[in-house]
Amino acid sequence: MAEIKFGIIGAGAISASSCREISSHPHAQIIAAADVNRQRLRQLQQTFSIPNIYPTAEALLQNTEINAVYIAVPNAYHAPIALQALGVDKHVILDKPFALNLQQAKEVTDMAQQQDRVFMLGMNQRFVPGAQAIKTLADDGDLGELYHGKAFWMRRSGIPRLGTWFGSKELAGGGSLLDIGVHLLDLVLYILDNFEPVAVSGATHSKFGSRGLGEGGWGLSDRENIPFDVDDFATALIKLKGGVTVSLDVSWALHQRDSNAMNVNLFGTEAGATVYPAEVYAYGANKGEYQLLQNPAAASQYEHSSRFFNFINTILGEEQLCVTIEQALAVQSIIDAIYQSSQSGKEVRFD
Ligand SMILES: NC(=O)c1ccc[n+]([C@@H]2O[C@H](COP(=O)([O-])OP(=O)(O)OC[C@H]3O[C@@H](n4cnc5c(N)ncnc54)[C@H](O)[C@@H]3O)[C@@H](O)[C@H]2O)c1
Repeated sequence: MAEIKFGIIGAGAISASSCREISSHPHAQIIAAADVNRQRLRQLQQTFSIPNIYPTAEALLQNTEINAVYIAVPNAYHAPIALQALGVDKHVILDKPFALNLQQAKEVTDMAQQQDRVFMLGMNQRFVPGAQAIKTLADDGDLGELYHGKAFWMRRSGIPRLGTWFGSKELAGGGSLLDIGVHLLDLVLYILDNFEPVAVSGATHSKFGSRGLGEGGWGLSDRENIPFDVDDFATALIKLKGGVTVSLDVSWALHQRDSNAMNVNLFGTEAGATVYPAEVYAYGANKGEYQLLQNPAAASQYEHSSRFFNFINTILGEEQLCVTIEQALAVQSIIDAIYQSSQSGKEVRFD
């Protein structure tokens, strides 16, 4: 008999793969799903043989058999639905980003800290085996003192479906930075083990989506001709406690050779590392040459590579939560600061 009974809120593009992961856990079962779109909801129900479906999140949350929910809806509904779910004692795994802004994320944090429930922001890239391997080496000191991280995710033509909520400031909170920048920002801070920003300077641009250019293939929501008013490029320099620095570059669309370029590069006093692929480098014996020191295979603190397994195992008392709410809040605070710095033209300080 499954111990964790899930309700799925949102039957869009990401939910099918999430349901596959959840149902592969031996102690979890999906017993309900909700979406405002009946067609997508029925499709998810049929694919995963989900017994109960609901037209709204509110209706699903009244099902007292459900003890955990996965929330994957437009960003504007993340905080409101997370608050409702925590309020009726459900464990919550919320897909990224945390919220539209820091204020909303703080409200959820306050509520989560009052309730005796597990709350996790589902940062899946932390669980990629290579990321775990580099994290282990960094924690063990194999890279020396880490002083800089360079994180980038540059898509050439990867704006989610135009005319949908993804391009709306009101419904998404932001564009490329909040949608994909959040992944690599979270990952670089996780590996650096430093979630304490001191100062942030950043800038965002919106150059393609507003001209109807740069669409990729992502997103199942229907086109509603919603105007595009978010960033499709962002750049930032983030100074962290102890003098550690991070540079972040993100794009949904721009003119470049590669269709997709992404990585987290770590620079330490003894070695450097990349996450994609997971490799460690240092000077070669000959001046100017570089040597691949290690190609780490499997040094992970988890026996799985799934955010859902970590969430479920934490509820079951078998694992520690990988993504703490304090870390998620710090990431949201940096994202807010990048937008603020872009608007004001000034560095934002966290004194
Ligand atoms: N972790 C990841 O790598 C990853 C990848 C993709 C998307 N996401 C996140 O997942 C969320 C959903 O993204 P998506 O790509 O599936 O979007 P999508 O547009 O394909 O699907 C969103 C779904 O939410 C439904 N919905 C809208 N309002 C709702 C409400 N109030 N209650 C219930 N359902 C509602 C829509 O009808 C739609 O079916 C976003 O927050 C996105 O950032 C995360």
